Amino acid sequence: MTALTLSNTSAAAVRADAVIIGIAKGEAGPLLAPGSEAATAVDSAYGGRLAATLGILGAKGGEDEVTKLPAPEGLKTPLVLAVGLGAAPAEGAGWQAETLRRAAGAAARALAGTGHGAFALPADDEAGVAAVAEGALLGAYAFTSFRGGNGGTGKGRKAKKDDRDVKDPSAPLAQVTVLTPEAGNKAYKAAAERASVLAEEVARARDLVNTPPNALNPAAFATAAQGAAKEHGLKIEVLDEQALAKGGYGGILGVGQGSESPPRLVRLTYRHAKAKTSLALVGKGITYDSGGISLKPAGSNETMKCDMSGAAAVFAAVVAAARLGLRVNVTGWLALAENMPSGSAARPGDVLTMYSGKTVEVLNTDAEGRLVMADALTRACEESPDALVDVATLTGAMVVALGKRTFGVMANEDAFRALVHETAEQAGEASWQLPLPADLLEGIKSPIADLANVGDRMGGGLSAGLFLQEFVAEGTPWAHVDIAGPAFNDGSPFGYTPKGGTGSAVRTLVRLAERAADGELSR
Ligand code: BES
Ligand code: MN
Ligand code: ZN
Repeated sequence: MTALTLSNTSAAAVRADAVIIGIAKGEAGPLLAPGSEAATAVDSAYGGRLAATLGILGAKGGEDEVTKLPAPEGLKTPLVLAVGLGAAPAEGAGWQAETLRRAAGAAARALAGTGHGAFALPADDEAGVAAVAEGALLGAYAFTSFRGGNGGTGKGRKAKKDDRDVKDPSAPLAQVTVLTPEAGNKAYKAAAERASVLAEEVARARDLVNTPPNALNPAAFATAAQGAAKEHGLKIEVLDEQALAKGGYGGILGVGQGSESPPRLVRLTYRHAKAKTSLALVGKGITYDSGGISLKPAGSNETMKCDMSGAAAVFAAVVAAARLGLRVNVTGWLALAENMPSGSAARPGDVLTMYSGKTVEVLNTDAEGRLVMADALTRACEESPDALVDVATLTGAMVVALGKRTFGVMANEDAFRALVHETAEQAGEASWQLPLPADLLEGIKSPIADLANVGDRMGGGLSAGLFLQEFVAEGTPWAHVDIAGPAFNDGSPFGYTPKGGTGSAVRTLVRLAERAADGELSR
């Protein structure tokens, strides 16, 4: 894990492998980011020609742009890294937290294989310093567990003693120092600690998502949760296939019955002695979604190890709430199963009796997420939480609607939906509110059972939400977060977002738990 420190050393005097400054997009070329004394100090070492030099090198100051240049005499780092922040904010307004987060993340990514980066971005308050820290740590991520040896050779050879001396160019930036005159300020230190916890828990979720499906089946996921529960003092209960059968969890069992790796339902609880609010979180944990008998075609199944991203986010958020000691009770429900085709798999046409007692005709075994989620939602509601949020890579339709970077939020109450959307914004995650139109209920009717598991193709993400709503107790404020788009980045990295698992929704859930702790959820 990348180490984080705050320091009040000046940008010119700090000793590190690189000093990172921010530049803005000007009309005629890059400008030193307004509000950045650090950049001015670095500029002095270049004889006041830093912006002009960057312009000659082709820098514009746009977002996600990184320019490295050798440091002049007078600085204590060999390298200066200028990261673009985009257009400068209006006079008097500071830089947006998300702008700082992304810039710090882009810089940290560009410094992979480097030891120590000193961040001198234009952050003049606690929120800004926290954003730089968070972005840098989120950008300093690499998933290397499955590289051969330990030198990143990919050849699968045994590690040799000498390997430790070989610098891995893909190793994440090892140390982050954020420069701020307020380095000794308690509030700033607490904000930095929070940033570390957030980044480590986002990394936990990313690691789980990136782990190949032959190494992470439902039982292995549950074991990982048990390990974290032990480490962080959480209560954990794991229902295995026998317990699920005894309890009548027909949805989870129906999805899991085609796999050699049986399903699990995990209940992970963090409690605070002085908590006044309880939050329940439910995550979709399909460790691999082949589609089942309604098999996905080649081209649609290569990244389906990501179908447990919701459960990973819930797991990470519960641990984060514990590590931050939030005054709230948080229960995470991980609905874990592998969706595979086999002689024992559910058939299109089968009817399942769900945990709630409702019956569902499975018309498409690839609409499996709503089946496992339904059982977990019903179970979660039995404990009458003050609020309930589910997170799932539920529908391709949501990706069509909102693209790869924005998740959809649906709910049974307008106010709670708005609150979750606003919370995501506070956390720096893109989201959008969507309706649950009653007319789509017609589509999920079955001629022989209480419900069918698929409805109209048009608005498919909303039909899935309506299906879930059928399993939520009336009176429980509930929101459904469909992260099918942003959970997995199959494109290039950007800002603090790596390729592969992104840890989508973790920061939103943690922020929601914080708001619950602050009494902002009670109506
Ligand atoms: N896991 C998929 C949804 C998904 C798609 C996640 C793309 C991430 C990226 C889900 O289980 C699924 O297959 N949904 C079907 C539902 C349909 C059969 C009603 C879909 O969206 O095509
Ligand atoms: Mn599916
Ligand atoms: Zn799925």
